[in-house]
Amino acid sequence: MDIAMIGLGVMGRNLVLNMADHGFAVVGYDRDAPKLDAMRNEAQGRSVRVAQTSQELIALLEPPRAVMMLVPAGPPVDAVIRDLMPRLVPGDQIIDGGNSHFTDTDLRTKALAEKGIGFLGVGISGGERGARHGPSMMPGGDQAAYERVRKIFEACAAQVNGEPCVCYLGTGSAGHYVKMVHNGIEYGLMQIIAESYALMKQGLELSDDELHDVYDQWNQGELSSYLLEITAHIFHQVDEKTGGRLIDVILDQAKQKGTGMWTSQDAMALQTPVPTIDVAVSMRDLSGAKSERLAASKLPRGPARAFDRDRDVFLQQLQGALYAAMIVTYAQGMALLRSGSRAYGFGLNLEAVARIWRGGCIIRAALLDDIRAACKAQPNLANLLVDPRIGQAVFERQNALRSVVMAAAEFGIPAPGLAVSLAYFDGYHSEWLPANLIQAQRDCFGAHTYERIDEKGTFHTEWRED
Ligand code: 6PG
Repeated sequence: MDIAMIGLGVMGRNLVLNMADHGFAVVGYDRDAPKLDAMRNEAQGRSVRVAQTSQELIALLEPPRAVMMLVPAGPPVDAVIRDLMPRLVPGDQIIDGGNSHFTDTDLRTKALAEKGIGFLGVGISGGERGARHGPSMMPGGDQAAYERVRKIFEACAAQVNGEPCVCYLGTGSAGHYVKMVHNGIEYGLMQIIAESYALMKQGLELSDDELHDVYDQWNQGELSSYLLEITAHIFHQVDEKTGGRLIDVILDQAKQKGTGMWTSQDAMALQTPVPTIDVAVSMRDLSGAKSERLAASKLPRGPARAFDRDRDVFLQQLQGALYAAMIVTYAQGMALLRSGSRAYGFGLNLEAVARIWRGGCIIRAALLDDIRAACKAQPNLANLLVDPRIGQAVFERQNALRSVVMAAAEFGIPAPGLAVSLAYFDGYHSEWLPANLIQAQRDCFGAHTYERIDEKGTFHTEWRED
């Protein structure tokens, strides 16, 4: 067998089928008997074997072995490693294809390297369909280990214009780091799309059919992206139980597994702002406080005015605003990748990241072609917003974004993702920010010192007599 897969849940099983369809012999194992049965049934006629135990799984591979796992992040990954270790020999490799926290991946890489076992942390995006028909794969870690599975990964990944959406990204936890930031961008994009939905539903009072049509039309142009495509589709989905639209019977409380939060946490630690992503995490949390919101919604609040914007003009502005905020969200994510690569020594090539995000993954979008071109033209670009073409695209839509943010504020429709994207754009382009006052306040209350514009060094002033 060419490769083993541990964890035959939705992602693992579909990836096994995908590998088999590309001519690779795969052995799968899961502790859960129904999952083994499902694999057996679906794999019929393919070169897939199902092992009853992890011993049997290992025995079916020739060293140096490649054992991949797709199990939930956290303790299950360590449990699989513990189970495998007594049976592996130096030169074998373990591949973690789940959404592991990158710091866990670093610890595992180090511990396994001491035993001569290669470790690859691979971010995989695209959900069930992606795993089956071509995901975007973000591998990092031991490069020699990657070379051994490169052919399998390149064959299984999504292809865009003949290029596979996978490439070796860098050392250590580079792959899981890139996947984490991918998910942070995913959170940001989902939040701003949801805000556009609120503005059209509560503001313009569009029906589900009209919402479908708007997103469908937007998806034909510059906003073309997987998330817009599925958003349009969602508004047409009928609920089997009620016969109405499914979207209208879904609870307004978003769940999360934590990768968006990890992105924000690391961005804070690296002092690299990703406010659109931060707000997306916060708004999921606020949505979770449903009973509190319900109680508070009974209290008086403003504004009581009816939404009075012209429908066609507002839709036009909203389209531009969404595109501008989408660019700003990617810009924040790419800036964080640059900081992360520097801080953790990944050696990331941002052009390669943009290239492998163009297909298969949740954040694939037409815009990634421009992002790729920008990263290629200037590998050391500080921020996408200063790329002439991308910066101009936001510049041209800034008034649309301002109008939409003003309307949201005026009519009391929360749109913090759009608002903070605009503030990031404005802040990033500001020669002066009021941080001199913050320096002064810190020095005034805590003697934290300040710097001056006309002299080097740190200074302290006795601000008050008392
Ligand atoms: C992907 C997704 C996936 C993620 C889900 C759920 O790239 O295929 O990012 O990995 O697990 O989107 O994430 P949340 O539960 O945090 O929303």
